[in-house]
Amino acid sequence: MADPWQNEYDFAVQVARVAGAVIRNAGEDETKVQTKSCAVDLVTQTDERVEKIIIGSLKEQFGNGTHCFIGEESVAKGEPCILTDKPTWIIDPVDGTTNFVHGFPFVAVSIAFAVNKELEFGVVYSCLEDKMYKARKGKGAFCNDEPIKVSDVNDINKSIIISEHGTDRSIEKVTKIFSTMQKILCIPVHGLRGSGTAATNMCLVASGASEAFFEIGIHCWDIAAGAVIVKEAGGLLLDVDGGPFDLMSRRMVSANNKVIADRIIKEIEIFQVVRDDAP
Ligand code: IPD
Repeated sequence: MADPWQNEYDFAVQVARVAGAVIRNAGEDETKVQTKSCAVDLVTQTDERVEKIIIGSLKEQFGNGTHCFIGEESVAKGEPCILTDKPTWIIDPVDGTTNFVHGFPFVAVSIAFAVNKELEFGVVYSCLEDKMYKARKGKGAFCNDEPIKVSDVNDINKSIIISEHGTDRSIEKVTKIFSTMQKILCIPVHGLRGSGTAATNMCLVASGASEAFFEIGIHCWDIAAGAVIVKEAGGLLLDVDGGPFDLMSRRMVSANNKVIADRIIKEIEIFQVVRDDAP
């Protein structure tokens, strides 16, 4: 049977490439910073411009009004962040905005597509490295058209674990985040890393460079595309308490296998965050 979402998948890859070129070619003016939820939650003209390009092209291509859109910058401006059964695009135009502003060389365009609340495909374009990661449900994961798979390491002592500290700098949360990182580092693991973009972090797990990435405080647009890529590369997604992964919960562990995921989960100090779809 023909894939009902093939056109959407192919088009998402094309749009991600166009968006990545805009980010790569952004002039100095376009990295000028404004803040959103707090002093370290950054946004630039480029985030807004790229989101407009992506959503505009998707609407033009699939513009019969049946598709919904959840985009980081649209939500920041008050658009709803509710996942319904309708075909829905979930978009982070510039994942790693802080990196982008500082010239730290990991920035990704993240585009996912869900139908009936199930993720159908994900595209992550790590545009400064020119790496196009993509995965279609049931059809494997790829980087620049080469198949990728998660690492087969089962021994936590031989792992590299990725995490991030996000933008919430309240002392209670930062203390829990660093306490978790300290415990994981002292298991010991080979190393702790963080690229500054959740989407890229997930692709690093999918391609076997790291065994796991976890974070509390990420948003659905940071991880939706990466979630398909990790799964299709043979990995798994869980909630930070070991329960089922919930895209809107802002909590996630992605890992190469359950042994590594469970060992990480044992150390995670959970703190409360407001869900993406909270009223
Ligand atoms: C951020 C990045 C970062 C993660 C934050 C995200 P943004 O996304 O993915 O790695 O730690 O939680 O908000 O704001 O650059 O799109």
